[in-house]
Amino acid sequence: MSTVLFVKANNRPIEQAVSMQLYDSFRKAYIESHLKDTILELDLFHENLPYFDGQMLSGIFKAAQGMQLTSKEAELKDIADRYLDQFLSVDKIVFGFPLWNMTVPAVLLTYINYLSRAGKTFKYTSQGSIGLAGDKKVALLCARGGDYSEEPLASNEMAVNYVTRIMKLYGIHDITTVIIEGHHQYSDRSENIIQAGIRNARDAAKLF
Ligand SMILES: Cc1cc2nc3c(=O)[nH]c(=O)nc-3n(C[C@H](O)[C@H](O)[C@H](O)COP(=O)(O)O)c2cc1C
Repeated sequence: MSTVLFVKANNRPIEQAVSMQLYDSFRKAYIESHLKDTILELDLFHENLPYFDGQMLSGIFKAAQGMQLTSKEAELKDIADRYLDQFLSVDKIVFGFPLWNMTVPAVLLTYINYLSRAGKTFKYTSQGSIGLAGDKKVALLCARGGDYSEEPLASNEMAVNYVTRIMKLYGIHDITTVIIEGHHQYSDRSENIIQAGIRNARDAAKLF
């Protein structure tokens, strides 16, 4: 029995958002095949996440130093802590996100900034950083209209690459990735590409 956190980073209607069709198929197949698991979901666009900014950082820094926080700093630090503690408490995390403007939606960047805390998800050493959350499994589910599987576009992809590298920073190497791509670029085979990706998502969910 595992506790799984589903993190959804797109609030476009599912009929229009291929990344959400991918996410939804994976989620349904996972729930059907893991009946005893506890399922949590974070819909990032509904969470109203404040920017990771100077006041939040000041709150986090001052708390670590045992210093007095202003009420705003304490409020912001508590918000970041809540998401970080939830992430650390679960066994598996599933991220569903689109490629927008070559990267992830801003809410996902904000959320990841809350998670990237030295001493919690990673630590610095003289040999470089060491991940502290390596006991978790992660699934990355992403749709992108262009085909980024090869150069020259591959180097421009900063969504799956970014989240993968962050998870590795946290020490998480058990990463399942399902991507639907090229359904805009190859418009004549768009539906086939999407349906094949959804089948891949269902298969991956059963094994995750
Ligand atoms: C605001 C926006 C920006 C986008 N930027 C890119 C992009 O940089 N590269 C690309 O291949 N497709 C881009 N697309 C297309 C999406 O990657 C495509 O629609 C994919 O299915 C993921 O988005 P969706 O889940 O919202 O449909 C963009 C779409 C939107 C709405």
